[in-house]
Amino acid sequence: MRRRPFPAAAGALLCLAALLFGAPPARAAARIPVTIGHRGVPVRAPENTLASIDTAARLGVRWVENDVQRTRDGALVVLHDTTLERTTDVGRRFPGRAPWRVADFSLAEVERLDAGSWFGRRFAGERVPMLKRYLQRVTHNRQRLLLELKSPGRYPGIERQLVAELRRAGWLGAARVRHDLVVQSFDARSLRIFHALRPDVRTGLLGAPKAAELRADAAFTDQINPDQRGVTAGWIRSVHAVRGPHGSPLEVSAWTVDDGDRAVALARMGVDAVISNAPQVVQAALAEEDPVPPGPPLPFPEAAFGVF
Ligand code: G3P
Ligand code: CA
Repeated sequence: MRRRPFPAAAGALLCLAALLFGAPPARAAARIPVTIGHRGVPVRAPENTLASIDTAARLGVRWVENDVQRTRDGALVVLHDTTLERTTDVGRRFPGRAPWRVADFSLAEVERLDAGSWFGRRFAGERVPMLKRYLQRVTHNRQRLLLELKSPGRYPGIERQLVAELRRAGWLGAARVRHDLVVQSFDARSLRIFHALRPDVRTGLLGAPKAAELRADAAFTDQINPDQRGVTAGWIRSVHAVRGPHGSPLEVSAWTVDDGDRAVALARMGVDAVISNAPQVVQAALAEEDPVPPGPPLPFPEAAFGVF
C-alpha cells in the first residue's frame, strides 16, 4: 500500500536543515499510516453502500474497505453480516424467511431491499450493491479498495469468481494491481487459493498470528491485519522483519481505529495503515502528527515513502 507522501515543501526544508547541520544519523524515517474507511464511512452513511463510499470520497478518504459475499443465484454483493437482517428491511419484506442468510436469497430479492432506512431516513432506498456496481463507483471516485472475502467457506469457488469479476471490471491491470487493490480475509485457506490464482494481487491476512507463524503466512500474504487492541510495537517489528511474496516487508493494517489519539499511538508503533469507522477523524489526527521523531532533522525525500 503506498503511503501518503510527506509534503514536498517540508521535505525540502528538512533536507536544507540536514545540509546546514550535517549528515543525520542512520535512522528509520517516520511514516504517516494510510487511512482506510471501514465499510466506507459508517458513522456518516449506511455501511457498505455506494452512499458510504461517496461520503468517503467527499471527505478525501482514498482507501475504502468492504465485505464481499454471494447470493443464492451466484451474484457477488457487498455486505458485512452473513444475514440481511441488521442492515436491510428484509425482516419486513420477507417475514417468513428467517434467519435471512445472504446465501438463501436471489439477487433480484436482495436488490429489492432497502439498505439505507435503518441508518437514517435520508438514505431510504439505498441498495445492497452488487460488487460490479461497487467497483464501478470506486473507479469513478478514483478510490482504492481493500476488499474482504467475508466468510468464504460458505461460498465454495468464490475466489475464482472474484478473479473473473475483477478482471471484467478492469481491476486486474498492472497499475491497478500495484496501487489500488488489496484482497484480505480472516480465512487463510481462501487467501491461499486467491493468491495461487492471482499471485500479482496483494493480499492481507486478518488476525494476529504469532511471530513464529509469520514466515509460513508470508508465502501468500503481503499484509497482516490485526485487531488494533492487541497490537504492540514489538509485534509490529516482528511482522516487518518478514518479507512477503512480492519481496517487501509484510505490512500491518490495524482495525478498527476510531480515535485520533489511538491512531497517532499506532502510527508511532509503526503500523502501515489504520482501518477506521471515522476515517475523517483519524486522517485529521494523523495529519497533525509530526512525522519527524525528536532528534536531529532528517531529510525526507518522497522516495522514502515509495513502499507499495
Ligand atoms: O478490515 C478489517 C475488518 O473489516 C475486519 O472485521 O468484521 O469488520 O469485517 P469486520
Ligand atoms: Ca470487513
